[in-house]
Amino acid sequence: MQQYLKKNKDRFLSELMEFLKIPSISADPRYKKDVARAADFLENEMKNVGLTNIKVYPTDGHPIVYAEKLVDPKLPTILIYGHYDVQPPDPLDLWDSPPFEPVIKKTKNHPDGAIFARGSCDDKGQLYMHVKAFEVMQNEGGVPCNVKFMIEGEEEVGSDNLEKFCKKHSKMLACDVVLLSDTSIIDNKTPSVTVGLRGLSYVEVEVTGPNRDLHSGVYGGGVTNPVNALCDMIASLHDLNGHITIPGFYKEVIELSTKDRKFVNSAPFDLKAYQKELGIESVNGESGYTTLERTSTRPTLDVNGIWGGYIGEGAKTVLPSKAYAKISMRLVPDQHPDKITKLFTDHFKKIAPKGVKVKVTPHHGGFPAVTPTNTIEYKAASLAMKDTFGKEPIPVRGGGSIPIVSMFEKVFGVKSVLMGFGLDTDDIHSPNEHYGLFNFYKGIETIPLFYKHYTALRSKGK
Ligand code: BES
Ligand code: MN
Ligand code: MN
Repeated sequence: MQQYLKKNKDRFLSELMEFLKIPSISADPRYKKDVARAADFLENEMKNVGLTNIKVYPTDGHPIVYAEKLVDPKLPTILIYGHYDVQPPDPLDLWDSPPFEPVIKKTKNHPDGAIFARGSCDDKGQLYMHVKAFEVMQNEGGVPCNVKFMIEGEEEVGSDNLEKFCKKHSKMLACDVVLLSDTSIIDNKTPSVTVGLRGLSYVEVEVTGPNRDLHSGVYGGGVTNPVNALCDMIASLHDLNGHITIPGFYKEVIELSTKDRKFVNSAPFDLKAYQKELGIESVNGESGYTTLERTSTRPTLDVNGIWGGYIGEGAKTVLPSKAYAKISMRLVPDQHPDKITKLFTDHFKKIAPKGVKVKVTPHHGGFPAVTPTNTIEYKAASLAMKDTFGKEPIPVRGGGSIPIVSMFEKVFGVKSVLMGFGLDTDDIHSPNEHYGLFNFYKGIETIPLFYKHYTALRSKGK
């Protein structure tokens, strides 16, 4: 660990705790001021660590924070991306401590302690490592190449304004590689670099039956109940083998070669521990594929929320007029989010029984991304992690989505390096989200080594 990091460890942590106290919930308009406050907090931090040209850019949604340190135009430029917005903390009653009052507690996976707070891992804690890594470099001889920071406040709601911003400021943002920490490692002894992400198609459906709520005795049995209908329709979207039944859904899915499948399945994975951790007796999914494949290289369709009719205390006999669901489909190369949304919409309308109308509203989407491992970018991340973990990281395809990764490739023509330090068990998006202190410090320690190796490899042209 760098001397400067060792000396300033505790301060770094208490600063992060302050950052985590700001409820920067991008989805909820009531928190707009808090989201802006988180951007201002970053702006101030960036000033403190010696970044320059710092600016908080307003957008039609939440602001984007930019900062840079340009040392020499002949040297390569790393663009750091992160997001300071967080998911809503609901359901609040399932948190052991309030989501915006960070506390440190030990856990099985984090015997040295973890910070419990919404955003601690996704992504405030992880992006903050980059600010602190910059501070470390700045105080130990300076950064070895140019660096730019672009931190957004809308990742959790689909990054609606980021592409426009990137196009508009393409000169300012010009870079050779994008580096982000918004993913996980296998465990604290087994480093990994994320080399793939799934894409996303997210839709909301509304099924309407009779023109008003009815007495379920007087009318029950005589008309289609939209909640019953919605359940039937959703149930029919998978067959008995767990395959998705939407015609054409798999058409553009690239099947992995036997060698690639072997590689995916060679990653350390303990099925028993996985089940135990989740409190389930058995895993389940698409037949013919392993859990590792099902959660990374195969597409999915999941109901994220479903409602309709009476859900209050006690019983109310009602035949509801409407039923709703939110459905996410995780996509793999070469599935196209818009095409999948269209296939879903057409199919879902087609399978509606008599007596109901169906409306499908698309939400955000994103392309899947896969990054090669035979590049300077990957090698630099691998060398950096090897230095600090004492072990070469394993390249792993992740199941989550970060749609901006494919956008960066399209707009800037550069690859992204997904060097995250979270654990899959850190409960991101769930109650009791946490981030290990080990992981926070390991990240700060590793990032400067990425800069070092990347700059050196680039100068050698390897
Ligand atoms: N950081 C996550 C994505 C992630 C987490 C990737 C863990 C790999 C491992 C990101 O903030 C996220 O939550 N993305 C959303 C999509 C977005 C469009 C709302 C997701 O994956 O649901
Ligand atoms: Mn994230
Ligand atoms: Mn997230």
